[in-house]
Amino acid sequence: MKLGRELLSAQAIQQRVRELAEQVSKDYARIARPLILLSVLKGSVCFATDLSRYVTVPVNFDYVAVSSYGSGTESSGVVQLLKDLTMEVTGRDVLMVEDIIDTGLTTSFLFEHVQRHRPSSLKLCVLLNKEERRVKPVPISYKGFDIPNHFVVGYGLDYDELYRNLSAVHVLEPD
Ligand code: PRP
Repeated sequence: MKLGRELLSAQAIQQRVRELAEQVSKDYARIARPLILLSVLKGSVCFATDLSRYVTVPVNFDYVAVSSYGSGTESSGVVQLLKDLTMEVTGRDVLMVEDIIDTGLTTSFLFEHVQRHRPSSLKLCVLLNKEERRVKPVPISYKGFDIPNHFVVGYGLDYDELYRNLSAVHVLEPD
C-alpha cells in the first residue's frame, strides 16, 4: 500500500479543529471543574492535542487504549481495553476525543465503559466520520468531517503504524 491523494489539507483540518474548539469552549464555559479530554490512543493524539490548544476552558488530559484493528485495513470487530482511565471521572465532565468513527464498535464499547464510572456528562468529539461503515450507532456531539469509505491515514491515523505524523489526511492506495 502507498500514500495516495490528499483528502483533507492541513489548513482545512486546523480550521475545522479551531471551529470545534470554539463550540466546545462555549458549551463548557460554565463548568465548575476542568473538562476531561479523554483521548483514545493512539490515533486521536494529534487531534486531541491540537483541540486542547484552541480550547479556552481549563482541561485535564486522560488516555485510554483499546485494540480492535490488526496491522491491516480491516477491523476485527473485537474490542479489548489495553489501558484504562487514570483519572477519577465520577461527577466530572468528560469529552471523549476520537480521530475516526468507522463501525462505531470501539466508541460504543468505550462509552459504556466510561458511563459505568458515572461522569456528570459524557460527550463525543470526532474528527472524521465514516457513516457508511456504521454497525453500532454512536451519539456524536462534535464532528469534524464526514468522509467516504476510503482507508485514510495521516493526522494521527496509521497504516501499520506509519503516517501518523502527517499534517494532512491522505487516502491509502494499493501499490
Ligand atoms: C481507530 C480509531 C478508533 C477506531 C474506530 O483506532 O482511532 O478508535 O479505529 O473504528 P470503529 O468505529 O470501527 O471501532 P485503531 O484501532 O486503528 O487504533 P489506533 O488509534 O491506535 O491507530
